[in-house]
Amino acid sequence: MKIGTPKEIFEGEARVAMTPDSALQLQKLGHECVVETGAGAKAGFADADYKAAGVEVVKTAAALWKAADIVAKVRVPDAAEMKRLREGQTLISFFSPVADEDKMKAAADKGATVIAMEMIPRISRAQKMDALSSMANIAGYRAVIEAGNNFGRFFTGQITAAGKVPPAKVLVVGAGVAGLAAIGTSTSLGAITYAFDVRPEVAEQVESMGAEFVYLDFEEEQQDGASTGGYASVSSPEFREAQLAKFRELAPEVDIVITTALIPNREAPELWTEDMVKSMKAGSVIVDLAAEKGGNCKLTVKDEKIVTDNGVTIIGYTDFPSRMATQSSSLYATNIRHLMTDLTPEKDGVVNHNMEDDVIRGATIAHAKEVTFPPPPPKVAAIAAAPKKEAPKELTAEEKRAAEIEAFKLQTRNQVGLLAIGGGLLLAVGLVAPASFMQHFIVFILSVFIGFQVIWNVAHSLHTPLMAVTNAISSIIILGALIQIGSSSLLITLLAALAVFMASINIFGGFLVTRRMLAMFQKS
Ligand code: NAI
Repeated sequence: MKIGTPKEIFEGEARVAMTPDSALQLQKLGHECVVETGAGAKAGFADADYKAAGVEVVKTAAALWKAADIVAKVRVPDAAEMKRLREGQTLISFFSPVADEDKMKAAADKGATVIAMEMIPRISRAQKMDALSSMANIAGYRAVIEAGNNFGRFFTGQITAAGKVPPAKVLVVGAGVAGLAAIGTSTSLGAITYAFDVRPEVAEQVESMGAEFVYLDFEEEQQDGASTGGYASVSSPEFREAQLAKFRELAPEVDIVITTALIPNREAPELWTEDMVKSMKAGSVIVDLAAEKGGNCKLTVKDEKIVTDNGVTIIGYTDFPSRMATQSSSLYATNIRHLMTDLTPEKDGVVNHNMEDDVIRGATIAHAKEVTFPPPPPKVAAIAAAPKKEAPKELTAEEKRAAEIEAFKLQTRNQVGLLAIGGGLLLAVGLVAPASFMQHFIVFILSVFIGFQVIWNVAHSLHTPLMAVTNAISSIIILGALIQIGSSSLLITLLAALAVFMASINIFGGFLVTRRMLAMFQKS
């Protein structure tokens, strides 16, 4: 099929939904590609680059919409584009189905299929198509760069001949995709970074990135991000008060505040109040990423940069991804390319719009002359929700003792039973097997037992590093196999060769994994 990308007509939009690289990949799926002339110009992709990648370049938007079976673009189509959408055509684009309900209905009435990129469910399998995340990642990065551009000092502390420079203090509110990207950028620039989120499960991620998680002195039932698809839910008024009190305490201290707090389908919560702005030092900067949804800061003006009377700069731009159009176009085009891979399972250029597929169904808002929004909840939960533990019943001291004795008895019974079965089996093998075999066999059983006991007690999160360092075990296997490989028996030689092969995979794989893990923690 023919996939086409027009020039974006939204004022100031510099992104493009197809890049020469993504076009090459789309062609591998059996599709043909077409772009409107100048579509990628603002993102740094010239018509000649597209032509070199085998993409047809047409002169007008009308020609593009006419030629393409699938139109991939960035912004919600405007009225003129809606007119061009025709029966049987597929549109892949950001398309806010709630705010643009009329357009969604019009597309369905026409018999066009619409895939809304922001509706891609946030499940692991769909991460490669998750355009909201890839754009939020860029916004988080750019927010820090923009803050730095408006901040009159270094991020990192320095001791120079001309004097001592203290490091900047950055507070990131909301540690979702954008927040984590901001934290990563801020710590790598050397600022002392604090972060807060209502979901306590992100504290570990925040700390692993070198920032400090701001804890509240408040007891509230922990928010279970897993049950809400990885998103937060509204916090109680008492929690909010505790949160604001903490922010009030931090406000005079921090130099840069980046707010990214958001609860889906709601106005952004107001978390940085007027009095907090007033208590900040002159020269401080606030970047409010939630400006589009009303802002987390009371004084934010959408799409503008303002400076308050006390000298605090507040940035409310809503087009951060577009300000880094080359990068965001590459990521967005890759998201679309992955979506097309799922839509073209046979790689034969034929689209199979499988409405049984969680991801495709979730993102499709109009199909077969029907509005298909809202989608049913995905069959796979975002993060498998941990079953809620029932609160343990309070036991008296006597009951506790009785329960302990009962548990001990059961454990002893199990252990004696297992030992008896194991001993019986060993004796049975000993009756038929030669003595030399028994010696090795017993060592083997003991090693399995000890190995199991050792690994069983290692935390799950450490299993990957543990596997990576099992090289030592593989080396012993290789040594053993090398001793046996020259055996006169073909079977033993074959088994030894197989052991060398498998153990080598483990050793080299282990080195690779270890290297990648170390790289993740290395500051370049
Ligand atoms: P996300 O849903 O991944 O993260 C939002 C985070 O805010 C979550 O971790 C959530 O737990 C947290 N949160 C919710 N209520 C909170 C509260 N009261 N206090 C502290 N934390 C709270 O969202 P994502 O993708 O990171 O986007 C963040 C924001 O950035 C959104 O408002 C989004 O619209 C905006 N955005 C802005 C762009 C721009 O150019 N200005 C571009 C892309 C995204």
